[in-house]
Amino acid sequence: MRGTPAAFLWRWPKLELLRVALVVLCHATRPQGSPGPMQCYGVGPMGDLNCSWELLGDLGVPSMLHLQSQKYHSNRTQTVTVPAGQNWVTIPRGHLTTSDKLLVWGTQRGRPLWPPVFVNLETQMKPSVPWLYPDVDFSQDEPLEATIQWAPPTWPSHKVLICQFHYRRCQESSWSLLEPELKTIPLTPVEMEDMELDTSYEVSGRCRVEEEDLWGEWSPVLSFQTPPSAPKDVWVSKSCCLTSCTQEPLLLWKAPGPCAQVSYRVWFQVGEKNLPQEEVPCCRSPVPMRAEWAAVSAVNTTTWASLTNLSLVCLAPESAPHGVEVRHIAGSPELLVTWQWGTGDPGEYVVDWVRDGDPQENLSWVRLSPGNLSALLSGNFEEGVPYRITVTAVSPAGLSPAPSVWVFTKELAPLLGPALWRLQDDPPGTPAIAWGEVPRHQLRGHLTHYTLCAQSGTRPSVCTNVSSSTRTVTLPDLHWGPCELWVTASTIAGQGPPGPSLRLHLPDNAMKWKILPGVLSLWVLFLMGCGLSLATSGRCLHLRHKVLPRWVWEKVPDPANSHSGQPHIEDVFQTPPPQDSPILEVEEMEPLPMLETPPASTPLHFGYEKHFLPTPEELGLLRPPSPQVLA
Ligand SMILES: *[C@@H]1O[C@H](CO)[C@@H](O)[C@H](O)[C@H]1NC(C)=O
Ligand SMILES: *[C@@H]1O[C@H](CO)[C@@H](O)[C@H](O)[C@H]1NC(C)=O
Ligand SMILES: *[C@@H]1O[C@H](CO)[C@@H](O)[C@H](O)[C@H]1NC(C)=O
Ligand SMILES: *[C@@H]1O[C@H](CO)[C@@H](O)[C@H](O)[C@H]1NC(C)=O
Ligand SMILES: *[C@@H]1O[C@H](CO)[C@@H](O)[C@H](O)[C@H]1NC(C)=O
Ligand SMILES: *[C@@H]1O[C@H](CO)[C@@H](O)[C@H](O)[C@H]1NC(C)=O
Ligand SMILES: *[C@@H]1O[C@H](CO)[C@@H](O)[C@H](O)[C@H]1NC(C)=O
Repeated sequence: MRGTPAAFLWRWPKLELLRVALVVLCHATRPQGSPGPMQCYGVGPMGDLNCSWELLGDLGVPSMLHLQSQKYHSNRTQTVTVPAGQNWVTIPRGHLTTSDKLLVWGTQRGRPLWPPVFVNLETQMKPSVPWLYPDVDFSQDEPLEATIQWAPPTWPSHKVLICQFHYRRCQESSWSLLEPELKTIPLTPVEMEDMELDTSYEVSGRCRVEEEDLWGEWSPVLSFQTPPSAPKDVWVSKSCCLTSCTQEPLLLWKAPGPCAQVSYRVWFQVGEKNLPQEEVPCCRSPVPMRAEWAAVSAVNTTTWASLTNLSLVCLAPESAPHGVEVRHIAGSPELLVTWQWGTGDPGEYVVDWVRDGDPQENLSWVRLSPGNLSALLSGNFEEGVPYRITVTAVSPAGLSPAPSVWVFTKELAPLLGPALWRLQDDPPGTPAIAWGEVPRHQLRGHLTHYTLCAQSGTRPSVCTNVSSSTRTVTLPDLHWGPCELWVTASTIAGQGPPGPSLRLHLPDNAMKWKILPGVLSLWVLFLMGCGLSLATSGRCLHLRHKVLPRWVWEKVPDPANSHSGQPHIEDVFQTPPPQDSPILEVEEMEPLPMLETPPASTPLHFGYEKHFLPTPEELGLLRPPSPQVLA
């Protein structure tokens, strides 16, 4: 046989000799049946011969395929014309002899295109694809195994085929081969071991004849889902142990991953009642008030991965972890939480965290075995954003949470200042003010102190620091005249901007005392004039309203309440002394209870001050305090 190719070599032009020599060399070194530039195989047990090849030469010119029988008619060569640009051709079975051996080569314009190949028609066949049955059986015990029945391709019943199968898990791009390869006689099912619950798998197979390493095509893919499992990690968004819950907490669990479509069943036990909920979607369910325990299972699961149970009973506060501390490791996006043992024997600890203002379902959590007294939380912690962190001891008997802590990976200066409003004077004549808290997410850190500033007229503003626990002050030394007050909040990162300012107009008490004697003597003179005229004393009395200021005819001021005897206020404002004696004397006081404000019908008898100060209604004292600018 080796000499046969040489039999037609001499007929080719001399220029082709070198090329053909190479071709023959190639042919001589290539093992039979291995895929080369050209491949021929029988399709199925008695099918046509299909030859295919890599496209070479001039694609615009048709090529010729030559098939030379080696076994029966060694000098008979069939030639098939292949349309230009096509890389395969089918030779009908009827043109060939059963069990023949062929030498096949291709030419274009008389020149050989690829090394010639031998084709053994008896063995060089590709079986068609095996068939996988869609009903997959799963093991009833751990570990999870699957059994898949299959049917081999059509083949003479006495001839054995070898089949192999491969699989890939959900979202994997590469296939893994299943060992061992299976024979069609005897036929055994495909078995897959160590599978994961809650996952989708794809399986397909292919077969070959025993004698040749020529695999058939891969069969269409069989896709199936492994049984769902109960969630392993179930948690509750907020325990109602330390503070009573105003909103229903949520039972939360971790999603099973993108490959499973799981539907859940949830139970709650409230007193004697068991409240089941069917077909709950992933991965939360509101917890009824006073529920004692909760359990979650997947619908249609296997028996061993069936249910996850969480007791919601509040245990004694002593069993809670204590000394919870959170540190931000510089340069890392993580938070390190540490705590100490409580009494009792926790089954495990859960550390949960949520961003200020986020909904309950956005709670994140980690579970830790009882030996661990620290946790490294990795989340997308943003700077200047408060996170609530809670450490809870969890045992089969119930929960024991430590008080939550608010933390910042990095504190920033506040974004807002507090809003101010005026309270009733205390004592009368001494303005009192209060301000609101800055919301936590605008504070952006832990409050260190407030700074209260005042500016009178055109004088420079004067500020003083006030402790973070103070939100009400009286201002005994405020200078008379128009005055503007504002407050800023500070964190360790710095001072925030001023809040809305409050404008006061304080009466000049001293000035009024100076003019009072003059006004009184005018009044006396006027009365005397009236008496002298004797005409109509009644008419005279009507005139008092037109001539005298109201505060004179209504009530004579009480010097004890007037504070006119404090002329030093003005001096203090004009020459601010150094740190020691603050310009604004700030004293902490209890916020005035709303109910103690005098009824609106009772006039305030504080002399002339009532004409300069707003009424309680104007001050907003008779309704919830709100920022208010008084002119
Ligand atoms: C022959 O093989 C080629 C290339 O593999 C393929 O495209 C073609 O469909 C096959 N023809 C038949 C009839 O199987
Ligand atoms: C094939 O042809 C060669 C020369 O062309 C000849 O020598 C040989 O006898 C022939 N073989 C058969 C089996 O016809
Ligand atoms: C559970 O199994 C039943 C019967 O096999 C089926 O009808 C039902 O759709 C399955 N439910 C889910 C959520 O898979
Ligand atoms: C869940 O846990 C509680 C307390 O441990 C137990 O009484 C209950 O039987 C459990 N429920 C299930 C369905 O296992
Ligand atoms: C809650 O979490 C989801 C998913 O991480 C996110 O898309 C959503 O914006 C979060 N909600 C809020 C209010 O941040
Ligand atoms: C908890 O501590 C144990 C050893 O006490 C350790 O092996 C384990 O990795 C820790 N777990 C976590 C989540 O840190
Ligand atoms: C207030 O306290 C801060 C920080 O201690 C300090 O830098 C600032 O000077 C103080 N301001 C006044 C007016 O005392």
